[in-house]
Amino acid sequence: MVKPAVRRIGVLTGGGDAPGLNAVIRSLVKTAIREYDISVVGFENGFGGLIKNQARELTESDVVGILPRGGTILGTTNRDNPFHYPVIKGDQKTFVDVSDRVFENISIHEIEALVIIGGDGSLSIAKELYDRGLKVVGVPKTIDNDLSATDQTFGFDTALTTATEALDKLHTTAESHHRVMVLEVMGRYAGWIALYSGISGGADVILIPEIPYNIDVVVEKINARSKERKKFSIIVAAEGAKPLGGEMVVKQHVENSFDPVRLGGIGDVVAKEVEAATGKETRVTVLGHLQRGGSPTAFDRLLATRYGAGAAKLVAEGKFGRMVCLKGQNIDSVPLEQAVGKLNTVPVDGELVRVARQLGICLGD
Ligand code: F6P
Repeated sequence: MVKPAVRRIGVLTGGGDAPGLNAVIRSLVKTAIREYDISVVGFENGFGGLIKNQARELTESDVVGILPRGGTILGTTNRDNPFHYPVIKGDQKTFVDVSDRVFENISIHEIEALVIIGGDGSLSIAKELYDRGLKVVGVPKTIDNDLSATDQTFGFDTALTTATEALDKLHTTAESHHRVMVLEVMGRYAGWIALYSGISGGADVILIPEIPYNIDVVVEKINARSKERKKFSIIVAAEGAKPLGGEMVVKQHVENSFDPVRLGGIGDVVAKEVEAATGKETRVTVLGHLQRGGSPTAFDRLLATRYGAGAAKLVAEGKFGRMVCLKGQNIDSVPLEQAVGKLNTVPVDGELVRVARQLGICLGD
């Protein structure tokens, strides 16, 4: 057994949930305890639990049976940034730095390092905590797959599988009714879920934020299919897709969230325009949070398990300020500063976009 750099660590899950969070927690707890004799404390509800001292010890028996379970046994939130925390003073809401509470709670539990499982928002907070002296290790999570320092985040494969299954189902009903079906998928500012599921699910049109679309081109594609006696068409629209010269459709602003903008509604916009221009009956399905729920795929379970074991190894070796990542086939790590602030979006001249075009899929340009 390696002599570990620390004897007790904390763990939290931050931001929107993603299938595989429990698999990371399980793997981290088991590896930390069995391999390195490090005990683990779980903070509840993301950074909220770290600020309010909501924590419990995680033993091996706490993680029994959670590998296939979606969600996170610790709870999560995309609010509660300790550096920008809302407090009410009189009848005014202001934002203050409460990070001293984080350090207090860490020391109450005699924790020497913290593993933060999160996306860009949570990992940016992780970096700031590290810059202020906390020993931190990050694990990349998000269904959007938009973190630039890893080849893949866990949660993405499950989301894209859910979207692909939805496309399979939409195909049969589209075919029966000779309709155009629009599927709106998540992904925020990146088109990974739309592109991967669109190719895997045999879509005719895929609209992604990285390639602004021209609705006339989309309509032309649907009409061309009708002329070829293809009586239905399937469109996948990423929630961040936007028309040439236009903006993304914002559904709401969530106060205090790491990223307050919530996208949504592009499916409806596209469907109305397509129906008006083609005269074909068009329906919209917004897949929404189904993409975040449910049991992780085998790929995500494996990746999440490898990330958990990788994070335990980093803390045991005293390699802090780093995020575990996937590089090709291997688990590696990168400094947190390389992991945050720069989103991984779909390269518009990349292989997958080229493959889609070669198949005759319309990308709206
Ligand atoms: O980042 C994950 C994600 O599911 C995005 O794809 C989506 O835009 C957003 O979170 C939705 O956030 P919320 O759960 O707060 O509605």
